[in-house]
Amino acid sequence: MSAPSSFYLTTPIYYVNDAPHIGHAYTTVAADVITRWHRQRQEPVWFLTGTDEHGQKVMRTADANGVSPQEWADRLVESAWKPVLTTLDAANDDFIRTTQERHTTRVQAFIQDLYDKGEIYAGSYEGPYCVGCEEYKLPGELVAGTGEFEGQQVCAIHGRPVEMLSEQNYFFRMSAYTQRLLDFYEANPTFVQPASARNEVLSFVRQGLQDLSISRNTFDWGIPIPWDTTHVLYVWFDALLNYATAVGLDSTDPADQELFARTWPADVHLVGKDILRFHAVIWPAMLMAAGLELPRQVFAHGWLLVGGEKMSKTKLTGIAPNQIIDHFGSDAFRYYFLRAIPFGQDGSFSWEDLAARYNAELANGFGNLASRVAAMVGKYFDGVLPVGGAPGEAEEAVSAVAETAVVDSEAAMDRLALHEAISSVWTLVEATNGYLTEQAPWSVAKAEVRDDGTYSADGRLATILVTAAESLRALAVLLHPVMPRATQSLWELLGAEAVLGTLGSQPVADAARFGQLPAGTVVTKGASLFPRLEDPTEA
Ligand code: ME8
Ligand code: MG
Repeated sequence: MSAPSSFYLTTPIYYVNDAPHIGHAYTTVAADVITRWHRQRQEPVWFLTGTDEHGQKVMRTADANGVSPQEWADRLVESAWKPVLTTLDAANDDFIRTTQERHTTRVQAFIQDLYDKGEIYAGSYEGPYCVGCEEYKLPGELVAGTGEFEGQQVCAIHGRPVEMLSEQNYFFRMSAYTQRLLDFYEANPTFVQPASARNEVLSFVRQGLQDLSISRNTFDWGIPIPWDTTHVLYVWFDALLNYATAVGLDSTDPADQELFARTWPADVHLVGKDILRFHAVIWPAMLMAAGLELPRQVFAHGWLLVGGEKMSKTKLTGIAPNQIIDHFGSDAFRYYFLRAIPFGQDGSFSWEDLAARYNAELANGFGNLASRVAAMVGKYFDGVLPVGGAPGEAEEAVSAVAETAVVDSEAAMDRLALHEAISSVWTLVEATNGYLTEQAPWSVAKAEVRDDGTYSADGRLATILVTAAESLRALAVLLHPVMPRATQSLWELLGAEAVLGTLGSQPVADAARFGQLPAGTVVTKGASLFPRLEDPTEA
């Protein structure tokens, strides 16, 4: 019996040369939202993230700090890369480190197999190398340096000089895969997404691929080449394999084999556009050479920019996630980056925009809606949800918006248009706020109040509040993947767990069906979901 196949999604494994900044957090949060959405659909999911610890870049940072590369990696992983997952509320299923034995032994088995198949040969290479990218560059890919590097040729991504290397290396016969890759892209039009990324990859591969140098022998911080231990494996060959080694590639352990069977091939490799080619060209060529199934999709999102340039560790423009989360909370962080930047495009971060959206959309829009409804159920019905009367035109209109929101957000999620998915759900926040303004339950209450100060359990007032509560229930379900904390508070405030079960167990597909919260459900006021904040730029 084989277990049902899991939706398997990965983030890049990040270099441990420094601590994470919000660019890394952006990818991790997007990955977390997508996988939480699939879990909310009640699908089996596997979400992998981790760290890339070998190579010259990490080795040099360790040297500069006077510790061994392994000590440096251990320190960074424990003090920064694992804790940031908690800070971001990322619910990853596994965390791979490329220095783990499960990885290194499986990588060695993989390359030995390619060597035995004649896919690897010995040769020599000379050319410019960017340690920031950990990649040989073609002369045409370099640009003129500015500032302190005026007059030199520099890497277009890192803006720093490259190093001329001349080495004996082992080569992977990647040139042999040019046509097979082009045929594969043709047959699988959504393999590389979005369209801009696909076009970039197609035009690159159409020029013809060169064989790839896959070993280095001038330093030793890497996985030894099994048949020639004077060489270490090229860090990208090592790193890309994490996606397969982490789920049990080549393992003889039955539990690993079962995991591999239910996860492989990966559904989505989520990456930033800086590392698109490694994932959309080298990685599938490696898998073809090994005779393994190819992943279903590589999705390249855009860059977070600072002053028009990619935020980066090397340029010291990095903002730590905590700088934002300490003030706004992890939910607002997750919401902001995914809502404000069309997923797949570049976007600039601004404190002003974040603060404005926090106040308008989260505090006033969503948070205030929840507080108002809870306060009115408290005031008019002693905190107990009434039965409500038959829905009229206005109520039907609200539930119709909820139905459309589910259909549209599901479709947007499948395209990884995360910003559109959130906008679709937000139509329900707006429609419900509009409904309350129009129906003015506070005025209805004045008209319907009985002599003893109570209200009919199936009058208009009751109908309006039940409708608004149902809308909030639907919003808790649909926004749970994006804002796990606030929606959990909302679920508690609605008293929903006692009657419907945990929030995580509510299927997306069923979210728009109104009438789920029974009469008698205990609604409490609770703390506000998004307290209004002082201007952080003045704090
Ligand atoms: O490239 N905007 O690791 P890395 C958006 N170890 N995303 C950004 C970003 C920005 N300004 N800066 C970083 C590596 N990222 C390799 C990957 S995978 C087999 C090996 C995110 O630490 C984005 O996902 O340089 C980018 O692709 C990744 O961090 C690069 O992280
Ligand atoms: Mg990088």
